[in-house]
Amino acid sequence: MSSKLRIAILASGSGTNAEAIIKYFYNSKNIEVTCLGSNKKMAAALEKAARLNISTFYQSGKKEESREEFDLRLIKKLEIHRPDWIILAGYMRLLSPSFLKYFNYQVINIHPSLLPAFPGSNAYEQAFSARVSESGCTVHLVDEGMDTGRIIAQKSFPLYPNDTLNDFKERGLKIENEFYPEVLDKYLMQKIHI
Ligand code: GAR
Repeated sequence: MSSKLRIAILASGSGTNAEAIIKYFYNSKNIEVTCLGSNKKMAAALEKAARLNISTFYQSGKKEESREEFDLRLIKKLEIHRPDWIILAGYMRLLSPSFLKYFNYQVINIHPSLLPAFPGSNAYEQAFSARVSESGCTVHLVDEGMDTGRIIAQKSFPLYPNDTLNDFKERGLKIENEFYPEVLDKYLMQKIHI
């Protein structure tokens, strides 16, 4: 019987963070990625995870379904994999209070800004439009608010005057991909205390 800590990833998009996490923990003695779920059928994250032999599932929304109802179905799919922690990697849905309670608030997210600056969607665009000289990413616990949970770790990176939005995003995403798995490893192995 494996005594590894079990993590489940939720992702909606291109899946670069999910892929980095899966690869980082591939041979870990302590942490195992058990599955990746997505609310987007065409999310590249699904393909990336499947290629790395991770079990995947897609859950579509139903008409007139509440957030709670969607999340109850999601819990059932996740439960099969018995996760200890839920890791959001570009998962673009707000989680319901019941979901968070069910998983004992053991849910972590990465957000592409130095929170509390630029919460919500399009954080790269928001920081770029604000012409900040420095931005960054934040790994945080998830609570009922929008990017308001307790901060685990942050890393900054510059926005240069000549950057296009794309340059800035590319730089940031590369840093996210390195930073997120390292922070998860340290936090879940209780080497970071908040
Ligand atoms: C990442 O930049 C992540 O920080 C962001 O979505 C992108 C997903 O990229 N998440 C949020 O904005 C959450 N509020 P990926 O699919 O390539 O990992």
